[in-house]
Amino acid sequence: MTSQITPTTPIEGQMPGTSGLRKKTRVFMGPNYLENFIQATFDAIGGGDGGRYIVGGDGRFFNKQAIQTILKMAAANGATEVIVGQNGILSTPAVSHLIRLNAFDGGFILSASHNPGGIDEDFGVKFNASNGGPAPEKLTARIFDATKTISRYKIADFEDVDLSQIGETRQAGMVIRVVDPVDAYQALMAELFDFDAIRALFASGFTMRFDAMHAVTGPYAKAILEGTLGAAPGTVVNGIPLEDFGKGHPDPNPIWAKPLMDLMMSDNAPDLGAASDGDGDRNMIVGRGVYVTPSDSLAVLAANAHLAPPYRGGLAGIARSMPTSAASDRVAEKLGIAAYETPTGWKFFGNLLDAGKATLCGEESAGTGSNHVREKDGLWAVLLWLNILAVRKQSVAEILAEHWQTYGRDYYSRYDFEAVASDKANRLMDHLRDQLPDLAGKTLAGLTVTTADEFSYLDPVDGSISKNQGLRIGFEGGARAVFRLSGTGTEGATIRLYLEQYSGTDGDTTQDTQAALADVWAAAQQVSDMAQIIGRTTPDVIT
Ligand code: G6P
Ligand code: ZN
Repeated sequence: MTSQITPTTPIEGQMPGTSGLRKKTRVFMGPNYLENFIQATFDAIGGGDGGRYIVGGDGRFFNKQAIQTILKMAAANGATEVIVGQNGILSTPAVSHLIRLNAFDGGFILSASHNPGGIDEDFGVKFNASNGGPAPEKLTARIFDATKTISRYKIADFEDVDLSQIGETRQAGMVIRVVDPVDAYQALMAELFDFDAIRALFASGFTMRFDAMHAVTGPYAKAILEGTLGAAPGTVVNGIPLEDFGKGHPDPNPIWAKPLMDLMMSDNAPDLGAASDGDGDRNMIVGRGVYVTPSDSLAVLAANAHLAPPYRGGLAGIARSMPTSAASDRVAEKLGIAAYETPTGWKFFGNLLDAGKATLCGEESAGTGSNHVREKDGLWAVLLWLNILAVRKQSVAEILAEHWQTYGRDYYSRYDFEAVASDKANRLMDHLRDQLPDLAGKTLAGLTVTTADEFSYLDPVDGSISKNQGLRIGFEGGARAVFRLSGTGTEGATIRLYLEQYSGTDGDTTQDTQAALADVWAAAQQVSDMAQIIGRTTPDVIT
C-alpha cells in the first residue's frame, strides 16, 4: 500500500455556505473537486496527522463513493482511526454524538441536507469540529483560503473498504471501524428521555405517523419508535434511505411533506405527525388538525422542557436565530433566563452551548436541538414532544392553544423566492439597505416603522463579529419583516422574507396565519419594490 501525492490546482467557488460546501452532484464528481476540498479541510485543521474522525452521510447518490475517497485521503494525511456508519449511513446528529462520545478530532458529513439527491441534484460536505458542531466561521474561512492555494492532495492506494460489514479493518496504518449507525444514538436518546412514559403513551392507544421522507432517519425512527417505544408497525413511513429520496425533496415542511400534512388535516389523522429531512437534523411537528411552526415548537419545548428528565433542573438559556420568531424570547423572559439571538446557521449556537449559556436552541428552518449534541436533531425534537405529551396527557392542539393564551401568539411565515438571478437579488438587498437609515418613522402600507437595521452578531463567548446577517424592519404593533439571502442554495439566489406579527394575550390568537400577516406582507412588498426588481411577488415556497 502506498500513499501518493497528487498535484492539483485550485478550483473556484469552494466556499462553505450556511452549512458546508453544497454543489450539484456532477460538480462534486468532477476531477479533483472533492479531493481538493477534503485536502483543504485537512490543511486548515493542521494536517490530520494522528487524527481520529467520524465519516458518514445521508445515503444520497455519490455518498459511498465520496466516503471511499475520504477514507483514503484520511489515511494518507496520517489519521489513525476513522469510524464509518454501516453502508455509509449516519445522520448529522449521530455524527455529532459520535465525535463527542469518542472524543475524536472531528467528522465529515456527506449531505446536502434537505436538498434533493441524485446525479442531477445536490451533494454536500460538512466538516464538524471536535466539539461535535459545524465548523465555525473562522475555520470555514481557513478551509476556503486553503482551496485557493492548494497545489497537491494526499491519497492512499488501497482497495475500497466494504461498508456493508460491521467490523474493524486496518488500511495504510489507519484503523477503520464500520459501526451500526443507530446504536450509540439510540442509547443517548434512552438516557435522555423517559422511555417508560412514552411506552405507556403508545400502549394507551396514542397514534403517530413519522415520515422519514426516504432519507436517513428511517432506520433511527424505526428502531426507536417502533422497535423500542412500542409505536404500531407502519408508524414510520418512507423509512428506507434511497439515493434519490424517491425523487422527493426531503424537507420537512408543509409543502414538501404534503402527504403527511394532508393526513394530519383529515378525519383519519393520528395524534401526532412528524417528519425529518435528508440528514436527520430538521423536524416538523403536526398535531391533529394543527401545524406547529418551528418557532412555536421551540417556544413550547422550552416552556415544557422541565417535564423531561434532562431538563428538570431548568434551562440555562434559550438561543434562536435572528429570523426565528420572538415566541421563545417570551418563554425565556417568563422563566427568567437569557435569550440569545444569533445569525442563521447552527454553527453559531456552538459557543453558547459549549459555554453553558444556552440549553435549547432553535431556528425557523425546522431546526431544534439542545446541549446533548452540537447539531440540531430531528428525532430528538420528536422524542421531547412525545415525552411532554406523555406527561401532559393533552393533545398537541390543546398544548398550543394554552401556550398562546399564556404568552400571546407570534404569527409567523417565511416566503421563499427561489432561483432569482443573483444580480437581481443583490439589487433588491442593496435597494433595501440604502433605505434603512431613513426608514424609522415612515409608514409603509399603513404600518409605521419603529426600527430598521442590518443584523450583525457579536459572539458573547469568543468576541467574533459576523456582519451582513439580514435586513430587519420592525413595525409599531409587533410586526417584523426580515430579508435575507439564503446560504444553502445551489442555483442563483434564494431570497427569504420572514414575516411576523405578534398578537398579545388580550388579542386574537385564533386567526389564519396568512390573514394575520397580510399588512406586514404589503409593507414588505412596498419597501422592497420586489415587483419591479425581481419581477415577481408570488413566493415559490411558504413555510
Ligand atoms: C441549514 C442550516 C441551518 C439554516 C438553514 C437555512 O439547515 O443548518 O442552520 O437555518 O440551513 O439556511 P439558509 O441560509 O438557506 O437560510
Ligand atoms: Zn439537514
